[in-house]
Amino acid sequence: MVRETQLAPDDFIYPLFVTHGRNVRQPINSMPGVFQLSIDQLAQEAESVLSLDIPAVLLFGIPAAKDPVGLENFAAEGIVQQAVRALKSVAPELLVITDVCLCEYTDHGHCGLLNNPDEHHAHLEEGYVLNDETLPILAQAAVSHAQAGADIVAPSGMMDGMVAAIRTALDAHDFSHIPIMSYAVKYASGFYGPFREAAGGAPKFGDRKTHQMDPANAREAVREAALDVAEGADFLMVKPALAYLDVIHRLRERFPELPLAAYNVSGEYSMVKAAAANGWLDEQKIVLETLTSIKRAGADLIITYHAKDAAQWLQQR
Ligand code: PBG
Repeated sequence: MVRETQLAPDDFIYPLFVTHGRNVRQPINSMPGVFQLSIDQLAQEAESVLSLDIPAVLLFGIPAAKDPVGLENFAAEGIVQQAVRALKSVAPELLVITDVCLCEYTDHGHCGLLNNPDEHHAHLEEGYVLNDETLPILAQAAVSHAQAGADIVAPSGMMDGMVAAIRTALDAHDFSHIPIMSYAVKYASGFYGPFREAAGGAPKFGDRKTHQMDPANAREAVREAALDVAEGADFLMVKPALAYLDVIHRLRERFPELPLAAYNVSGEYSMVKAAAANGWLDEQKIVLETLTSIKRAGADLIITYHAKDAAQWLQQR
């Protein structure tokens, strides 16, 4: 009765990694319980998610081939586009959110197009991410996901102007009703390590510090979020969650009008799983405590690999 924070399965968004092939259920070593799934596995997955009252999934695609631009990202027969159609045909009531970024699709593993050091920037030794040149590709990918039936698009690349570019493109293609969940505040974090095994998106050289945020900065987070709000973001997101509860709290206070999501990322999941496997922590206790804390800090929604387990535990209570 006097509990201030309620945790429920409908707070959760469950990430799914989809891959080409048939009957694929490829375990991710560093994320016990998480798999790369082929399209034929998705109906079963949708059913289990919905039966646990989890309303939404977030899709990441593993393409058949990678190239400098990431062509499969915006191909009508791309892996994510196929997955969206498959999920929508078996479970139209399941909300399908798609990750919109380049890093899973590019051979260099970066979140944007790279400059060609031979051409205009001969003084630079290695390629760096070209912000403005990347925007049309993100817009094209978002439109392609919407055409496949995605309910919400979630651009995760932290490119400046990405929300505005995607909004304009969606509106021009009669998708003005499709909301944008912006990874407004995404830190250059060590906690994404296991995800890079799951989605195969590690940068082949360099890092993401030119576009992701410095973990030392919180005021900058508010500025980043304000820019995305001005560009038309419908949801804000903070990522990772646990080491950034103060940032979640700041955004909650500053932008009370927008739904706020927090991404409880791969490394946060792996730490709990590893400790639990060793008998060092009580997994159920730790997971429910963690997720409750993320909500207490101010998140409305939590993207978490623990979603199915947590939903089950909540229902057993
Ligand atoms: C980028 C993206 C990443 C994650 C989600 N979207 C990786 C990155 O920025 O390096 C990480 C999520 C996780 O660690 O669970 N498309």
